[in-house]
Amino acid sequence: MAFLQRSFRFRGLYNALKVNGACMSSVPAPVTQPNIQYDQIFINNEFVDAVSGKRFPTINPSTGEKICDVAEGDKADVDKAVKAARAAFKLGSPWRRMDASERGNILNKLCDLIERDRCYLAVNGDYFTYTRHEPVGVCGQIIPWNFPLLMQAWKLGPAIAMGNTIVMKTAEQTPLTALYIAQLLKEAGLPPGVLNIIPGYGPTAGAAIAEHMDVDKVAFTGSTEIGQLIPVMAAKSNLKRVTLELGGKSPNIVLADADIDQAIENSHFGLFFNQGQCCTAGSRIFVEEKIYDEFVEKSTERAKKRTVGNPFDSSNDQGPQVDEEQMGKILALIESGKKQGAKLTVGGSRSGDKGYFIQPTVFADVKDDMDIAKIEIFGPVMQILKFKNMEELIERSHNTIYGLAAAVNTRDLDKAIFLANSLRAGTVW
Ligand code: NAI
Ligand code: MG
Repeated sequence: MAFLQRSFRFRGLYNALKVNGACMSSVPAPVTQPNIQYDQIFINNEFVDAVSGKRFPTINPSTGEKICDVAEGDKADVDKAVKAARAAFKLGSPWRRMDASERGNILNKLCDLIERDRCYLAVNGDYFTYTRHEPVGVCGQIIPWNFPLLMQAWKLGPAIAMGNTIVMKTAEQTPLTALYIAQLLKEAGLPPGVLNIIPGYGPTAGAAIAEHMDVDKVAFTGSTEIGQLIPVMAAKSNLKRVTLELGGKSPNIVLADADIDQAIENSHFGLFFNQGQCCTAGSRIFVEEKIYDEFVEKSTERAKKRTVGNPFDSSNDQGPQVDEEQMGKILALIESGKKQGAKLTVGGSRSGDKGYFIQPTVFADVKDDMDIAKIEIFGPVMQILKFKNMEELIERSHNTIYGLAAAVNTRDLDKAIFLANSLRAGTVW
């Protein structure tokens, strides 16, 4: 309804402008010597001077003469403006509580006011515009190893559906699945050149895609470290479009009213799934004080039951980590957890001496500033933290450089919705 109203209003404005020539006889001619009323900085719905007090001239290009001096903003004014915008965006603020239809009313009212002042604003002409969705072109796609088939599917499906062509680099650890799918696509009738797959290494093949002058877009999934390099390579070559999907250190919240056995199962799956090699792993488990001891004890028992071994034997719950480098990173973080004083309740070492297996590991009494609470481990290592109240919980949940995902375990729908709305994360389960 709001949308219909809005498009009706914009059409009204368009028609009014279209007949502007005709209405010129009944309205005054455009204002050529405007009386300047607003020449300061606009922050928080107020016109204010620059913090520095400075002003700079604005010039009429037809005469080369100064129209007036305008307040000159710099970093101090930008800081004030960001503070105002941040406060207006705060949860519970009038803007955040306003209905979409009411925001529509404000935009419609703006249309009325532009129509009212059209001679002052000098809006004129008879234009026809429309939007057409086009494919982007050649899409570079750099994918990781943790879900070889899925990572390929997520990038490949939408790009092909929209008519793009693809140069995809698979992760050096997992080159085979994508090649098999390429053959299936050929068999399905994909014309030559549409999908091209390059197995290879990051600094050579990956960087060549991100830096290529004839690639229109690069989509990357992987580490935050490399994610920070990709936009730089894109910008320094041809300003290709960039999409990034990077790491996480997602909070998984367990409230005292939750069904505790279900919450333990959710948390176990949310962390140990795929050997912990999951960007959305619930790797900071915040448990309410009242049920904390029981949660730690039962989660430890649950982890002890986890069987580790050959992943092709379907009676095993957990297979190896993807390579020696990942195993080394995880073991080093486990050591840091022990050193920094977290309580190891189960696991804590490599499993066996062949392959890259790690014991299912649980740390309790984890503190926010420990490395294992801050760094993405990407392995079968659970961190359990204690919390007392909601305010503290929300603040601590946000105490991370990431914002990928979050989860809430509770039987109280009010709390579930309050937390889902408060948590700054891409997905909240
Ligand atoms: P990575 O970011 O180095 O590798 C991901 C992809 O980027 C691979 O295809 C790799 O060849 C490519 N790549 C590497 N260096 C590149 C460069 N200079 N230019 C262009 N492409 C490049 O991730 P890595 O080393 O395999 O894992 C490190 C950590 O990253 C993991 O421990 C984990 O924390 C995180 N990670 C996150 C993933 C996610 O799903 N968000 C997936 C894989 C890793
Ligand atoms: Mg790497």
